[in-house]
Amino acid sequence: MSSQDPSKSSVVVPQHVAVIMDGNGRWAKRRGQRRTAGHRAGFKAVRSMVEHSVRRGVGALTLFAFSSENWRRPEDEVGVLMQLFVEALQREVDELVEQGVRLRFIGERERLAPRLREAMTNSEQRTAGNARLQLFVAVSYGGRWDLVQAARSLARDVHAGRVDPAAIDENALAARLSLAGVAEPDLFIRTGGEHRLSNFLLWNLAYTELYFCDTLWPDFGPDDYDAAIAQFARRERRFGLTSEQLKDLG
Ligand code: IPE
Ligand code: IPE
Ligand code: MG
Repeated sequence: MSSQDPSKSSVVVPQHVAVIMDGNGRWAKRRGQRRTAGHRAGFKAVRSMVEHSVRRGVGALTLFAFSSENWRRPEDEVGVLMQLFVEALQREVDELVEQGVRLRFIGERERLAPRLREAMTNSEQRTAGNARLQLFVAVSYGGRWDLVQAARSLARDVHAGRVDPAAIDENALAARLSLAGVAEPDLFIRTGGEHRLSNFLLWNLAYTELYFCDTLWPDFGPDDYDAAIAQFARRERRFGLTSEQLKDLG
């Protein structure tokens, strides 16, 4: 076990973790393999992260698997990724059911092939009764897309006379986002060395603790995850208040 094993201490475990799983392509290139081999290896790291989240008592996990901008990648890479999603869903759902994981997808589904959409809906239905870990996978997702679709939904309600524009507040918008009703992420992890959000959860990450590491996604394992959780536990989350105010609040 790692010296940073949170189960061995009173470390605060983040209740919602959001992850940009980056570095698959570089991982493969370094081995003289095609980028798609990196995506295959990346799926194994996903399984490991889901298992470890359950082990650590993380309540919700949101994984960025394919962004709105990733559609612009070479056609064959996009094709392999879509095929991998379908295969992974067919292969992994039983295991998710067994572990008590509820799986849901966020993103622009209309852009996905019917076969993948079907596999997604099917896996969501099969895991709907689970509550141990809420797993959200962002596919064809963009933070800007999410805000736009929420704005459109509000505009429709205003147009139909259901919502008074003067009554629109943060809650009204948040209620129409993909992760409506889910507590905001406590911890954000990005692997692969880049320090950016790449259009992930723009609204939801407003007060999330950000953690970046150089490890390429296929190499990211339980010890790396524990290191991120341990660092999270050492942060002081002030939410705009002063340190003294927080101490007074106990
Ligand atoms: C992340 O790895 C997976 C997806 C974006 C689908 P990349 O494919 O971006 O890998 P790098 O960043 O090129 O190494
Ligand atoms: C972000 O990674 C998207 C996913 C991991 C799914 P990218 O590799 O697409 O991000 P950029 O292009 O380097 O910002
Ligand atoms: Mg990348």
